[in-house]
Amino acid sequence: MKILVINGPNLNMLGIREPEMYGYLTLDNIQEELKNYAKQLDNSIELEFFQSNFEGEIVDKIQSAFGVFDGIIINPAAYTHTSVAIADAIASVNIKSVEVHLSNIYSREEFRHNSFIAPKCIGQVAGFSKDSYKMALLGLYGVLK
Ligand code: DQA
Repeated sequence: MKILVINGPNLNMLGIREPEMYGYLTLDNIQEELKNYAKQLDNSIELEFFQSNFEGEIVDKIQSAFGVFDGIIINPAAYTHTSVAIADAIASVNIKSVEVHLSNIYSREEFRHNSFIAPKCIGQVAGFSKDSYKMALLGLYGVLK
């Protein structure tokens, strides 16, 4: 089972960026922990990680996942609230996807309460910091296996 894990803009700054909101773990730390979790869950899960600060690169990556990946876990970061293009890309490839957020976007500013991406996903996990990614993987695995 091949799962693509996509992280959007500014998530490469985790560890430095607003630690009171996002904690002190780096994106590498989170990805390493997710790899270990995947191994425990099912040794046949293969994860690939991709991070970009550019909307078009994320669209390209989602398109290139067609026929290659079984599932997508995506933290679109700020593009969650703005990107019709990423939502359309997920709908185009028809790959089961889960949206993830470190923070609870519904307890934050109003503009973060809307997601263009979530309606194209099978589910959304928000508010559990690094564990949001693990919960997304568990859910996706349950659907795909
Ligand atoms: C985020 C929430 C977004 O609103 C924000 O723009 C981010 C991070 C999260 O993981 O909590 O960059 O996606």
